[in-house]
Amino acid sequence: MNDNSPKTALTVGEVAKRSGVAVSTVHFYEARSLIKGWRTEGNQRRYHRSVLRRIAIIRVALLAGVPLATVRDALIDLPHDRVPTKADWARFAKAWRDMLEQRIFNLTQLRDQITSCIGCGCLSLEECPLRNPDDELGRAGPGPRRLGAKP
Ligand code: FES
Repeated sequence: MNDNSPKTALTVGEVAKRSGVAVSTVHFYEARSLIKGWRTEGNQRRYHRSVLRRIAIIRVALLAGVPLATVRDALIDLPHDRVPTKADWARFAKAWRDMLEQRIFNLTQLRDQITSCIGCGCLSLEECPLRNPDDELGRAGPGPRRLGAKP
């Protein structure tokens, strides 16, 4: 018996129940090419059991703030009829961890900058670190930087 046989294939309801997502979410992931199923002769959707692990990976990635398009790009080369391995997961996790580290760094900087702005409210293009991160205007040289700039 192969994994696409009627005995082992999952219905959309079974996929939803076993992966802890709504049926509409299963359809949404399929519409976004994150998972893939097929239709029976009776026109019912069926899924390989590997879809459960794929959905687990998608859920963890989204929880970590990885954009859906990035998740799709990572999963695109993974066969839909093979359960993702520990090595597959390790590869995704490493790439997404690096992305998370950068986001944490950026958010920490933003938090510190917002703290320094509390009570000010100027939102000055020249002075406010929120409007002028890393003093981009200062690095561009002395003198007015916004003259002639497109709004
Ligand atoms: S609001 Fe004034 S420095 Fe940011």
